[in-house]
Amino acid sequence: MRIDRFLSNLPRFNRQQVRLLLVERRVRIDGQAVNDPHAQVREFSRVEVDDEVLQAGRPARYFMLHKPPGCVSATRDAQHRTVLDLLGEPDKEDLHIAGRLDFNTTGLLVITNDGAWSRRLTQPQTKLPKVYYVETEQLITAEYAVTFARGLYFAFEDLTTQPAELTLLGPRSARLSIVEGRYHQVKRMFGHFDNKVLRLHRERMGPLLLDASLAPGQYRALSPEEIALI
Ligand code: URA
Repeated sequence: MRIDRFLSNLPRFNRQQVRLLLVERRVRIDGQAVNDPHAQVREFSRVEVDDEVLQAGRPARYFMLHKPPGCVSATRDAQHRTVLDLLGEPDKEDLHIAGRLDFNTTGLLVITNDGAWSRRLTQPQTKLPKVYYVETEQLITAEYAVTFARGLYFAFEDLTTQPAELTLLGPRSARLSIVEGRYHQVKRMFGHFDNKVLRLHRERMGPLLLDASLAPGQYRALSPEEIALI
């Protein structure tokens, strides 16, 4: 939101006062004095007028975790270990998961407290590919790729899945790229052919690749460059 709008939304300043505050350079965003009414205030920006803090700003945090099998993609669970239990970070109640994985699915899991950023990563509209390595019980035939590219009807949601790309790697293994994350989507796509998924591993979400140096259960903070890619 623009700083002039942010300030005039507060009951204490009218538009004329906001103009003056900016001209007199009494407004700071993240420690920088601003006089441009178009300067942007974000969810995590610190906003001060003179020495009074109007929005404290919390540091945005972004992590990638190599999810191991046998843990729940939830912030809390009465029975099982959750992915947040694997993070040695403070204020974990602030964090959420950008694109959950099933209990036994492994691979790239992104955890953040920045809602706008995680929506860009996961929303089907942004069409960022989520890439999975899949192993199945039965043979994967050439027909699968054609069907997945066309889209599959999911009766429960009453929708047709967006075109997905399947690359065969072996008789029972493949790489699948999808742009949405419907409930159990990959398993349901293979389920259309009565083919059970035995192993599922997420390798990539858009430009974010699972770091090969992370063993299952390990995590690291995303770099500023990785954050800026989304
Ligand atoms: N699709 C699934 O079926 N399971 C996952 O964990 C992720 C995608």
